Amino acid sequence: MSAVLKQPALQFRPMLESDIKAVHAVETAAYDFPWSRVIFQDCLRVGYCCWVMERDRAVAGYGIMAVAVGESHILNLCVHPTAQNNGLGRSLLDYLLDVSRRHKADCAYLEVRPSNAPARRLYARAGFEEVGMRRNYYPARLGREDAIIMAKSLD
Ligand SMILES: CC(C)(COP(=O)(O)OP(=O)(O)OC[C@H]1O[C@@H](n2cnc3c(N)ncnc32)[C@H](O)[C@@H]1OP(=O)(O)O)[C@@H](O)C(=O)NCCC(=O)NCCS
Repeated sequence: MSAVLKQPALQFRPMLESDIKAVHAVETAAYDFPWSRVIFQDCLRVGYCCWVMERDRAVAGYGIMAVAVGESHILNLCVHPTAQNNGLGRSLLDYLLDVSRRHKADCAYLEVRPSNAPARRLYARAGFEEVGMRRNYYPARLGREDAIIMAKSLD
């Protein structure tokens, strides 16, 4: 009898205040300029769509979106560095887009650094298109970095 190797199942659930410590640990591992814990607390407090992606009951990633008047704005999408490049980012993005549709959004927007090749590839593969640029939007090691604005129709 041969062994059957199964990928651990992913679970998506709303983020809780009690998740913030684990979420912030992923955030600091994944980003050069991470959000503070307070920003995550504020996102929960103001009622943004905050979702945790679990694998083996551990936080493997998370996504945060503001959804209003038919538009969803993806504010943060992150996969733990040790779990990246395995399709989890695409699963998380697809889940957030499904949530957006359930909230009756017909368009999704996000910003991404020009230097963030993995994220740009993920978004392009998911059907996002570049629709604009915000100058000097992000902090960077040497000054500031622009943001590319991307959009996808959810029809
Ligand atoms: C961006 C991010 C969410 C992608 O998650 P992921 O789980 O690695 O993505 P996936 O495995 O689903 O891959 C999605 C696509 O990106 C590509 N990709 C992933 N990692 C890559 C890398 N290091 N270099 C180049 N392409 C990469 C994959 O090849 C795949 O493209 P394909 O379908 O053409 O093969 C993840 O890299 C991350 O959390 N980065 C830090 C936080 C961040 O930058 N978030 C985005 C802010 S805008």
